[in-house]
Amino acid sequence: MPEKKQEALFQQAVDGEQKVEPRDWMPEGYRKNLIRQISQHAHSEVVGMLPEGNWITRAPSLHRKTILLAKVQDEAGHGLYLYSAAETLGIGRDELIDQLLSGKAKYSSIFNYPTLTWADIGAIGWLVDGAAIINQVMLTRTSYGPYSRAMVRICKEESFHNRQGYDILMTLSKGTPEQKAMAQDALDRWWWPSLMMFGPSDKDSPHSAQSMQWKIKRQGNDELRQVFIDRTVPQAEFIGLKVPDPKLKWNEQTQHYDWGEINWEEFNQVIKGNGPCNAERMAARRKAHDDGAWVREAALAHAEKKNKRNAA
Ligand code: 3HC
Repeated sequence: MPEKKQEALFQQAVDGEQKVEPRDWMPEGYRKNLIRQISQHAHSEVVGMLPEGNWITRAPSLHRKTILLAKVQDEAGHGLYLYSAAETLGIGRDELIDQLLSGKAKYSSIFNYPTLTWADIGAIGWLVDGAAIINQVMLTRTSYGPYSRAMVRICKEESFHNRQGYDILMTLSKGTPEQKAMAQDALDRWWWPSLMMFGPSDKDSPHSAQSMQWKIKRQGNDELRQVFIDRTVPQAEFIGLKVPDPKLKWNEQTQHYDWGEINWEEFNQVIKGNGPCNAERMAARRKAHDDGAWVREAALAHAEKKNKRNAA
């Protein structure tokens, strides 16, 4: 069948809300776009474990430590679901990991910021997972079946991540003046980088238009960012914290918050590798990969032995 005809049938199926499955014919551009996005999503989950892992041994109580341990383990699982979803598009796990470790693949800029105090762990759960939920709930309706199904499971766990983060900051905000100041300092440092998680404005996005047509994305970056702002500002006010944006103001007419300008120079520098923690994060990932080589070798040797025994 001519490619043009196949593309037309593919678009018709997507427009008809049919999920695209691994064995279905798909445009090469669709496949490549999904490998790009899903693998970067997976890399983000795994690199995202580092800033939080930094506080597991320093959590203020056994209760907080067990919650943080559970969250970091969840993120590892999210990474594995997403690597598996990417593999259904015909790319191997080793290649995906090499792309991350060689610096070829991106991961979310947010994870290149330091976690300086315990309040940062609250800010990550509340703001970073909060932003991720808004993006990921949208992605539960993405046109690619394996990605959409991975999102359903991930979103359930993400909600627990978000609530525990907000609970940390609520507790600090009700604490001593020093604890409240710690919570405000975390909001000051994590607010704008969290807005950057939604990507550049759609007018500057090289992918949004095509991703919307293929229903990879169901809503644009700007719309999701606005949903996040409208939802999060009242939460900050409820716990007595002030969002660090002097231009933030509720607009009765639009029923949305008007807000200031993202520092896109900072965004571009961080995704170019010049953020506060890029080098540290990649060094940690490369060391973890090297330290884990023996586990991979042992698992492969065991699998080969088992296959030989079953084949005999
Ligand atoms: N950090 C790093 N790179 C980013 C970025 C960010 N915050 N926002 C955009 N980019 C990159 C894009 O990857 C793209 O680069 P590429 O062409 O080299 O891949 C470029 O900037 C242009 O951006 P676009 O908006 O055109 O790209 P997309 O259409 O891919 O949209 C996105 C960007 C909204 C982040 C989209 O990729 C997406 O929805 N990804 C899946 C969700 C995700 O990755 N979330 C990251 C956080 S995971 C997380 O928070 C885990 C939580 O449990 C802690």
